[in-house]
Amino acid sequence: MLSALLLTLVGALPLASAHIAMFHPSMYGFNWTDQNSTDLGYDNRPVAPLQGYTFEQWWFHGHTKYPPAPGQFFELPAGQAATAELACDKSHTSSFASKIEDHGTDLQRGNDPCPTDGVPFPNPAMHTTGFNDLKGCALAIAYESDVSKIKPEDFTVFSINQTCVWTRFTDFQVPARMPPCPEDGCHCAWFWIHADDSGGEQNYMNGFKCKVTNSTSNVALAKPKLPRRCGADPDYGKPDAAPGNCTYGAKQPFYWFQKEQNNVGS
Ligand SMILES: *[C@@H]1O[C@H](CO)[C@@H](O)[C@H](O)[C@H]1NC(C)=O
Ligand SMILES: *[C@@H]1O[C@H](CO)[C@@H](O)[C@H](O)[C@H]1NC(C)=O
Ligand SMILES: *[C@@H]1O[C@H](CO)[C@@H](O)[C@H](O)[C@H]1NC(C)=O
Ligand SMILES: *[C@@H]1O[C@H](CO)[C@@H](O)[C@H](O)[C@H]1NC(C)=O
Ligand SMILES: *[C@@H]1O[C@H](CO)[C@@H](O)[C@H](O)[C@H]1NC(C)=O
Repeated sequence: MLSALLLTLVGALPLASAHIAMFHPSMYGFNWTDQNSTDLGYDNRPVAPLQGYTFEQWWFHGHTKYPPAPGQFFELPAGQAATAELACDKSHTSSFASKIEDHGTDLQRGNDPCPTDGVPFPNPAMHTTGFNDLKGCALAIAYESDVSKIKPEDFTVFSINQTCVWTRFTDFQVPARMPPCPEDGCHCAWFWIHADDSGGEQNYMNGFKCKVTNSTSNVALAKPKLPRRCGADPDYGKPDAAPGNCTYGAKQPFYWFQKEQNNVGS
């Protein structure tokens, strides 16, 4: 029902409905325009949800051919917090000036990720019924400078924020023992799977170039394993946690709801 509604909306007003992306000049697809989506034939703005896509369409949001400008990296200070900017549109972030369609209009409004006139907070694009319904989001890293060499199983989740996407400025704690990146940097990605009670289940991924700063360790990250379900999930008939089922240590992100290369069941 909801996906039918979404399809209708997308068909009629291709680019009006917004969701959320992590915006930073180090991201792939930083200058993606509405016109680029129209030319491509589907909504591939960084904020568009990824659902039922081929691997090429969902991996790095289909933006691997649109790298950031040279020298742009999202910095990860080891042992400190990195602040990401999450928003429904680039015009609501500190990168507003580079939004081509808006001619660089500044539509930032404090910490609100989606300040859209007439829509009360939280905006439907935040996909939550309220603060207690937030499902969090994650940052993952691959210690590889060449984007074409990265495979989904190479990403290791290194930080999550449980209260994401409540605020535009969202802090991610960077583990103190993150080793430095190769000379040309690492690749990172932001992942979000929101509550299923406010707009269906969707996967989000935005890739960007990143670098660990102030690193004091040279120990490589452990090889990430597949995450397994182990928490209590009373809404789905699992009243108790099953700690024996947990994956301990380094984990891959969830890849879900796509046509190809999912790593968790539906
Ligand atoms: C995207 O569209 C803009 C105009 O909106 C154009 O200048 C740019 O070349 C396009 N980029 C790609 C990758 O097609
Ligand atoms: C995006 O646009 C801004 C402003 O025009 C420019 O400074 C930046 O280099 C562009 N980035 C890419 C990847 O093209
Ligand atoms: C690195 O650590 C030093 C102190 O050890 C601190 O002054 C500096 O701000 C840190 N730099 C970054 C990028 O976090
Ligand atoms: C999540 O982000 C919020 C907003 O920036 C911040 O207040 C909070 O401390 C962060 N949580 C964690 C675990 O870092
Ligand atoms: C254990 O994990 C698997 C894979 O995620 C999942 O299918 C299964 O339901 C989990 N079992 C329990 C008891 O949570």
